[in-house]
Amino acid sequence: MLGAVQFGLLAACIVLFVPMGMAGWHLSRNKVLFFSGALFITLAVGVHLTPYFPPFSSFISSPSSSTVVVASVNRDSCMSFLHEIEFDRKDSIFNGSYSGKSWKWLDSNKGVVGCDFQKLSRSDASDLLNGSWVVLAGDSQARLVVVSLLELVMGLEEMERVRGDLFKRHSDYHTTVDAIGMKLDFIWAPYVSNLTDLVVEFREKRYFPDVFVMGAGLWDMLHVNNAMEYGVSVRMLKESVMPLLPVTPEFDIKDRPEVVRSPHMFWLGMPMLINLILNTEEKREKMTDAMWYAYDEQIYKSKLVRNFGGPLFLLDIHSLSSRCGRSCTTDGMHYGGVVYEAAMHIMLNALLIESQQRLS
Ligand SMILES: *[C@@H]1O[C@H](CO)[C@@H](O)[C@H](O)[C@H]1NC(C)=O
Ligand SMILES: *[C@@H]1O[C@H](CO)[C@@H](O)[C@H](O)[C@H]1NC(C)=O
Ligand SMILES: *[C@@H]1O[C@H](CO)[C@@H](O)[C@H](O)[C@H]1NC(C)=O
Repeated sequence: MLGAVQFGLLAACIVLFVPMGMAGWHLSRNKVLFFSGALFITLAVGVHLTPYFPPFSSFISSPSSSTVVVASVNRDSCMSFLHEIEFDRKDSIFNGSYSGKSWKWLDSNKGVVGCDFQKLSRSDASDLLNGSWVVLAGDSQARLVVVSLLELVMGLEEMERVRGDLFKRHSDYHTTVDAIGMKLDFIWAPYVSNLTDLVVEFREKRYFPDVFVMGAGLWDMLHVNNAMEYGVSVRMLKESVMPLLPVTPEFDIKDRPEVVRSPHMFWLGMPMLINLILNTEEKREKMTDAMWYAYDEQIYKSKLVRNFGGPLFLLDIHSLSSRCGRSCTTDGMHYGGVVYEAAMHIMLNALLIESQQRLS
């Protein structure tokens, strides 16, 4: 951290040496004086304005004690550390039980400590989601996140009871967790165009979920296998969600419907594919690494996710599934519950950070 004194000295050196350096570059004496004066004024104005820009002034004047580090860890950097997760490698024999492994945030990471991420307990999650409407829409990956979320808020036994309904092939699933008044909808939306239709429907009804997680890709890759077309639909989806965003200068949009509360929106990325163990010939042929990258490229080219300047927060299943590794999947595309559980806790922590809530 730079103290005010060092900053002053640095400024003085710049005023003195930059014009001298320029003089070496055959500038006339008048030009040197002009640059010197201009630099001096710029720096002086900068120093006097600094107190009015809190993030910058706290950066240059705060002493480096750990409490200040915690306070100055900002929202965005915490969001960027959320995927710093490791999976336990001890129990690496995958035996059909999805709960063999455990995971945690890397504690070697200073950012993670400062951000104070936590695996939410059932009651914390209930507090957080009390009274809210959660929609998860997409293909089988989204369904697996629903399982993790319901296991957390309903408990394992209750979840086992509803598992049959949830896994009726290619169907929607709706439930209400009465204890906390949480409404949850899973919408089977295997193509990105299905997601766009859903967003348009919400906009027409002017009725928006509080939390909206969406993601489609694998199904499209298998049944359409055309990354360019996929990109076109992703761009259309992006256009359709832009008017739902909170009003901020970076997303200045005309034609904004009256959204009372903006939903918290997430994009569920595709997992790492392990081509050799995909379970049909057709999948092995179409779902290649090259095709995976071509599809993934469309997500950032279209600026759908925030890491690339877009509106949705990416739940990076590719990163999580590669960290969990080969031993976490039997079919090369659906991973053990631990991966989706981690994704779900990343989502809940992102919600906590975004809503600036703190659990007591
Ligand atoms: C899988 O492994 C876990 C823990 O090692 C064990 O509790 C469980 O019974 C095993 N399941 C099967 C189907 O073998
Ligand atoms: C949910 O919120 C309602 C009203 O805000 C409250 O009465 C209830 O106790 C809460 N339930 C849980 C489980 O937190
Ligand atoms: C999803 O979109 C496809 C292609 O537009 C359409 O054929 C299909 O009926 C839609 N599925 C659902 C569940 O809406």
